[in-house]
Amino acid sequence: MCFLDIAKSRYTTKKYDPNGEIADKTIEELKEILRLSPSSINSQPWKFTFISDAKTRSELSKVSYHNEEKINEASHIVVFSVIENVEDFENWNLSHLPERAFSYYNRMVKPKGEAGIKSWFSCQVYLSLGFFLSACASMGIDSTPMEGIETGEYDRILQQEGYKTLFAVAIGYRDKEDVNQPSITPKFRLDRENVIRTI
Ligand SMILES: Cc1cc2nc3c(=O)[nH]c(=O)nc-3n(C[C@H](O)[C@H](O)[C@H](O)COP(=O)(O)O)c2cc1C
Repeated sequence: MCFLDIAKSRYTTKKYDPNGEIADKTIEELKEILRLSPSSINSQPWKFTFISDAKTRSELSKVSYHNEEKINEASHIVVFSVIENVEDFENWNLSHLPERAFSYYNRMVKPKGEAGIKSWFSCQVYLSLGFFLSACASMGIDSTPMEGIETGEYDRILQQEGYKTLFAVAIGYRDKEDVNQPSITPKFRLDRENVIRTI
C-alpha cells in the first residue's frame, strides 16, 4: 500500500478485539522501529515501555479516564516517557553525540532555559509518536494515541526513574464493529487550503 493510502486508512481505534494479540516477533520489530526514531541532533531523550501484563494494564486502565476499555482490551500498551532531568541529559545523552551536536545544543537549545529545554525534549518524543503510528499502520496494526491518562499515576505504577510519562499508545487489532473506522465514520480534516500554503 502506498503511504497516502495508509494515511487515508489509519485511524484512532476506539474498540479492540480482546483476542487480537500481536505476535512477539512483530512487537520486537516495533521496539526496534521506536529505537530508530529520528530526533533533533539525535538527542533521543526518551524511554518506551511495552506492557502486556494484564495486572499492570488493569491498574493503568483505572487512571486513564475514557481510555479504560482500550487499555484492557488492546494487545499491548506502549508508554512514551521523556527524560526528567536536564543535567542527566547533558551528562548521558549528549556524551554519546559528536561535537557538532554538543555545540548545536549549547548554542540553540541551552539558552532556552530549563522550561524551554524540557519542551524541546518533549517535542522529540512526540515526533517518535508520529513515526510509530505510521509504522503500525504500515504493518496492519491498529493503534490509539492517548494523552487522556493520569501521567503522574502512570509514573507511580510503572516505578519510573529519571523519566516521566508523556502519553501512551494502545496497539492491537480492531473490533470489527468499531464505529470509528473510516469505512463507518469518514475521517474529518480541515480543507487543504486551510492548512497548506504553496509559495
Ligand atoms: C497526542 C494525541 C493524543 C490523543 N489522545 C487521545 C485519547 O486520549 N483518547 C482517544 O481516544 N484519542 C486520542 N487521540 C486521537 C485523536 O483524537 C485523533 O487522532 C484525531 O481525532 C484524528 O482522528 P484519526 O486519528 O482517527 O485520524 C489523540 C491523538 C493524539 C495525536
